[in-house]
Amino acid sequence: SLDEPFHNEADTDWSLPHNVRWARERVEAMRKAEPTFVPLQIGGKSTPGSATAEGTDPSRPGQVAYRHALGGPEDIERALQVAVSSRESWKNLGWPARAEIIAKVASIIASRRGEAIATMVLDAGKAVMEADAELSEAIDFADYYARSFSREGAFDGLACEPLGTVLVTPPWNFPYAIPCGGILAALAAGNTVILKPAPETVLTAWEMVNCLWEAGVPRDVLQFLPCPDNEIGRSLVTDPRIGAVVLTGAYETARMFLSWKPELRLFAETSGKNALVITASADPDLAVKDLVKSAFGHAGQKCSAASLAIIEAELYDDPGFRRRLRDAAASLKTGPSWEYDSVVTTIIREPGEALHRALTTLDSGEEWLLEPEMLNGNPCLWSPGIKLGVTPDSWFRRTECFGPVLGLVRANNLDHAIRIQNDSDFGLTGGIHALDPAEIDAWRDRVEVGNAYINRPITGAIVQRQPFGGWKRSCFGPGAKAGGPNYVSLFATWQNNGLPQ
Ligand code: SER
Repeated sequence: SLDEPFHNEADTDWSLPHNVRWARERVEAMRKAEPTFVPLQIGGKSTPGSATAEGTDPSRPGQVAYRHALGGPEDIERALQVAVSSRESWKNLGWPARAEIIAKVASIIASRRGEAIATMVLDAGKAVMEADAELSEAIDFADYYARSFSREGAFDGLACEPLGTVLVTPPWNFPYAIPCGGILAALAAGNTVILKPAPETVLTAWEMVNCLWEAGVPRDVLQFLPCPDNEIGRSLVTDPRIGAVVLTGAYETARMFLSWKPELRLFAETSGKNALVITASADPDLAVKDLVKSAFGHAGQKCSAASLAIIEAELYDDPGFRRRLRDAAASLKTGPSWEYDSVVTTIIREPGEALHRALTTLDSGEEWLLEPEMLNGNPCLWSPGIKLGVTPDSWFRRTECFGPVLGLVRANNLDHAIRIQNDSDFGLTGGIHALDPAEIDAWRDRVEVGNAYINRPITGAIVQRQPFGGWKRSCFGPGAKAGGPNYVSLFATWQNNGLPQ
């Protein structure tokens, strides 16, 4: 109940054999199922849209996993009309009633955890444990945003005016939790929402929106509208009836949206080139464990992933440390997501230019500590790679590659390491491993990232404890953090009209 304080949802306990069996069965059932068809949902009606696209499982390239509808101009127009006409009733429902529905979402998601894990395994190539953690985050978003609105007195004297209709355009790498969080925050503030799921992970988005509808979010208040990333998508983003756009994606995509419509109200979490600093005072075992998790979890495809480790010379030059790091990375099982114990799973599609270069080419002064290999003849499946000798001005140090490659940079001392870390266009996540408190304080004072982590991995922000969002080119908009206290209030304008709220 909403009277209870917020607490974080626990991940599934994988030390229990029956949980492992349960996940395996769900994944097997999903793999064997006939490809389904995912329609559009506009104003509560399923429609086949104006075109069809195929969804694939990166573990089985070339095979159709499912098909889905794509909206055309008429579908977009209808969705916008419904979104506008349902605004009044949703807003007038009031905060407490909306909060009840949003809180209910948490329990519906929890009741469909197995189906959702299996869907992500198939649709996004996510490892079972990564998919499971993502569901905990989605449940947390529901529980947290429901509370951020019903807290007594939080908005005393201010009337909340929703922005209208919010368009949510999420990424494929967190295909469940990120759209779920954006939608729920916008709904909590009284907006109607159109979800345009990532083209790569429509099935996961479908699984998620069904939970929201089941919890009581009216279908005309939340509509499901896959559509192509061309003129048609552009017309949706730029339509004057869209009050705000929530984007998680590339920096270039955010720039493109703004070039289409400079006055767009855009809340975007964009690219990163994240680094973990490791000083000579660090506990090397802990540092290796957290670095490997940060760099290779979800095959390095988290916006929060560690792409660089900036290591103090004494440790960097230590052959024992290098061996430990190499062995730790090499011991991660690389395999298809439907094998329960795979840790490094497929990337979403064949490597693009940047990732291909990162996986196959060394620049001047670089050498492989661990050379990545393509496995199973699948161009989407690569074992982890670690480059030594990455220099602060090199191509790899500057370029977001989004895959299972980590570069090691040698720093003379902590000051040098911080200067390298901050010399970046981006500022999403960053971390330090050090046991010397003076070093930790110095780093914390100077590091230019939105999420600064100490002696922990730099991925896997926890709702409420580590509200998520970046600085610099990793963020567009006012920078309120997802899973943090001021996020829901982004989606409204406020009026001081003297009335208690
Ligand atoms: N919130 C995710 C993380 O912290 C990234 O989107 O890893």
